[in-house]
Amino acid sequence: MGKGLSFDKKAIIIKDLHLSIGNKEIIKGMSIEFPLKAITAIIGPSGSGKTLLLKSINRLVDLIPNLKSFGEIFVILDGEVKEVHSLDPSYLRRKVGYVFQNPNPFPHLSILENVIIGAKLNSLVKKKDLVKWAKEKLEEAGLWEEVKDRLKEPAWKLSGGQQQRLCIARMLALKPEIILLDEPTTGLDIYNTKRIEELMVQLKENYTVIAVTHSVDQAARIADYIAFLYDGRLIEFDVTSRILKSPSKELTEKFITGRVLDGVRR
Ligand SMILES: Nc1ncnc2c1ncn2[C@@H]1O[C@H](COP(=O)(O)OP(=O)(O)OP(=O)(O)O)[C@@H](O)[C@H]1O
Ligand SMILES: [Mg+2]
Repeated sequence: MGKGLSFDKKAIIIKDLHLSIGNKEIIKGMSIEFPLKAITAIIGPSGSGKTLLLKSINRLVDLIPNLKSFGEIFVILDGEVKEVHSLDPSYLRRKVGYVFQNPNPFPHLSILENVIIGAKLNSLVKKKDLVKWAKEKLEEAGLWEEVKDRLKEPAWKLSGGQQQRLCIARMLALKPEIILLDEPTTGLDIYNTKRIEELMVQLKENYTVIAVTHSVDQAARIADYIAFLYDGRLIEFDVTSRILKSPSKELTEKFITGRVLDGVRR
């Protein structure tokens, strides 16, 4: 599987991905390679297919009715090249974690339980080590100091930004290798946005990070690479400085300078 592909410093290789819902074609033949242990930002106007591309990687798109897709998506997990459609979806979704735009902790479970429930159900960590594991993951997500005295409180008591970091801790507790974040700072204040941006930069030490963002400024602050999508196609992929300073396509330049306004949320 994946023969002939070069995975040198790559974590994901997508080959000619097509996706439609009902009779509407949404992703129109996309090939893209995501670098290993780096942050790639996906930018593009609203409706360009950013979320569906991200959800294709860990097959969350399988849950959407009337959706059809074809093409190949190879990932390196546990040191082996695997095609995502050949994998057990629950294994895939553990190893390729996903953080939604709106934080979705289990509201009535405690802060502690939110972090460890997945690791517990999947027997990823020995029972006696679970609390230590939760502490480690809350630290990794930059939330420990704020919650260490209230671990038994329900998650709904946390602020939006804290809930988002809790969801990141919960995802990290599943021992992922690839992390997908869909506009993880939308709706957060400047303090929490900064916390999460710093966190993403730390995470790339150990994980491959792909983040959808509607903010070109955010991509400039955190990303090593930028993928620019437009109308279901990959228009340009390059290192961040190149996309921002000298993109090779006029459409990319129009988008980053704010001249492609159709459907762009600001
Ligand atoms: N569950 C769904 N059912 C039907 N159409 C959908 C569904 N999800 C997405 N689409 C359509 O697919 C297209 C791409 O959607 P997607 O959510 O990937 O866009 P996006 O680039 O993430 O946009 P945004 O910046 O607004 O989040 C849009 O036209 C959208 O209406
Ligand atoms: Mg989206």
